[in-house]
Amino acid sequence: MTKSNIDEQMQQVLESNRYVHAFLVEKDEYNKSPHFRPENKRKVRNIIQGICNSLPQRQRMIDFGCGTGFVIALSHDLFTEVVGVDITQQMMAQVDLTPGNISLCEALAESTPFPDNHFDFATAYSFMDHLFDYKTFLQEAFRVLKPGGVFYTDLNPNREFILAMEKTARLAQQQQFSGQIQREVKGALHNGEHYHNQFGMDAAKLELAEPGKTVNKGFLASEVMQVAADIGFRSCKVEFEWFVNQGEWVNQKPDGQAQLIEEYLLSMRPLSDQLYKYLRFVMTK
Ligand SMILES: C[S@@+](CC[C@H](N)C(=O)[O-])C[C@H]1O[C@@H](n2cnc3c(N)ncnc32)[C@H](O)[C@@H]1O
Repeated sequence: MTKSNIDEQMQQVLESNRYVHAFLVEKDEYNKSPHFRPENKRKVRNIIQGICNSLPQRQRMIDFGCGTGFVIALSHDLFTEVVGVDITQQMMAQVDLTPGNISLCEALAESTPFPDNHFDFATAYSFMDHLFDYKTFLQEAFRVLKPGGVFYTDLNPNREFILAMEKTARLAQQQQFSGQIQREVKGALHNGEHYHNQFGMDAAKLELAEPGKTVNKGFLASEVMQVAADIGFRSCKVEFEWFVNQGEWVNQKPDGQAQLIEEYLLSMRPLSDQLYKYLRFVMTK
């Protein structure tokens, strides 16, 4: 592929991202995404607080692909200065700036205007699958972090889950599956169709806006860890999270049952890896 082809494809991904996210803000739908549910906010806040306890300093943090400020709202009190980077003005306009230590920067996460070794903490939530090339972005996250700084990225689609859903979809031609499984297959493989039917969004644009999911079929834990090591991160830890249908178990079943299932599935790793929808990585420079 020539360089101009690559540039053109990347521009398409960026434009589709702006379209999709502006669309969701205008419909007042973005902040209704499942990750805004209170139980997930509590979980993410605990993760961030845990990481912060181990940071050498807590002067500056950067949130890549900050959107409407999901991570910023959960972490601004832990740092002196917080910067949010994004390309969609409509999303950034929703960030609550009232705490007074937050600034926004409209820029590509792959090439930000910040100096080397500048931030103590960097985050990217529900973001890397929106990138044309997540490796270039990881290099940028590494560049702007101070030595000893930490990069936390979460809600990255798990390739093993998506491949398992593809296999399930093929089998569905021969046998009937439960409504739950059908919903999971739809969410993993036909997100564009769902958003089109629900809100009238251009399905093709949503598919283009998530190449990490639709083209690369999610992230493979071992591959991301190798990329992080090649870039120079001195450690990279991965966690598998949100087992299939976990939301229903958390919200509709008696307390403690979801946790029991989670403990069991985690004890069955790596056999159970394909049952987890997302990957979380914590990388230290
Ligand atoms: C799914 S949203 C996630 C927003 C927020 N992190 C959250 O968890 O709610 C993805 C965000 O990434 C932004 N984005 C996509 N590609 C980008 C890029 N190359 N550089 C910076 N931001 C980008 C989009 O505009 C959008 O706001």
